[in-house]
Amino acid sequence: MPIFVISLGGSVVTSNPLDMKFIKEFSEMINSTGKEDKFCIVIGGGKLARSYITALREAGINDNILDEIGINATRMNALSVSPFLRDCNTKIPTTINEAAEMLRIYRCVVMGGTEPGHTTDTVAALLAERVGSKTLINGTSVDGVYERDPKKYPDARKFKALDYNKSIEMAVQGSLGAGPSVFMDVTSLNIARRSAIKIVVIDGKNISQFRDVIAGKAHSGTTIS
Ligand code: UTP
Repeated sequence: MPIFVISLGGSVVTSNPLDMKFIKEFSEMINSTGKEDKFCIVIGGGKLARSYITALREAGINDNILDEIGINATRMNALSVSPFLRDCNTKIPTTINEAAEMLRIYRCVVMGGTEPGHTTDTVAALLAERVGSKTLINGTSVDGVYERDPKKYPDARKFKALDYNKSIEMAVQGSLGAGPSVFMDVTSLNIARRSAIKIVVIDGKNISQFRDVIAGKAHSGTTIS
């Protein structure tokens, strides 16, 4: 029975406050895939997290509390998505252990963050490792991994495929510079490498891309393996 883990960027589900059209379409797509498929969906914090973190950071609040604020935002977003998914948890798990147990009961488990110090990408990688999933789909605000920031360099080349080492090298370099966050955090890539979990980075707003990856068809994102 295939288990797909999806890391759904907060920017994909939140708008002002939520992108309800996207949430309904995404849920319909998940609800209508093969009976045998199971899903773990880890939701990011998006605008909700960012607005609180920015305001509190300016007031000098420490990073550990800011992370806790971010985690609460991810859980609120996760709870907002779960009612639209068939055979899905209604209580948001707070640990990987709890989520793995829930997957024995439900077809679909939705969660947000766990503890300070990482992002929901790492939660998704840890959960994939725990439940034995071989595919982690990262639905994010870019449509793949580029050699350079495509917003700054419109002619930047998108990778069709990348190996773990190259992706980790790029994520480390990206995390050293100021500015927008990298395509995935380094810890999540390290976990994927040690357990040979394939990562597919796709445009999170493009529902047909999820459908293609789940069906094992060609997609236009980047595969890290
Ligand atoms: P996200 O996973 O959405 O972070 O969690 P992000 O990747 O920085 O945000 P996007 O996807 O680019 O919008 C939001 C914040 O919540 C905290 C972190 O502070 C993170 O930046 N967080 C989340 C944790 O501390 N631990 C977790 O397990 C998850």
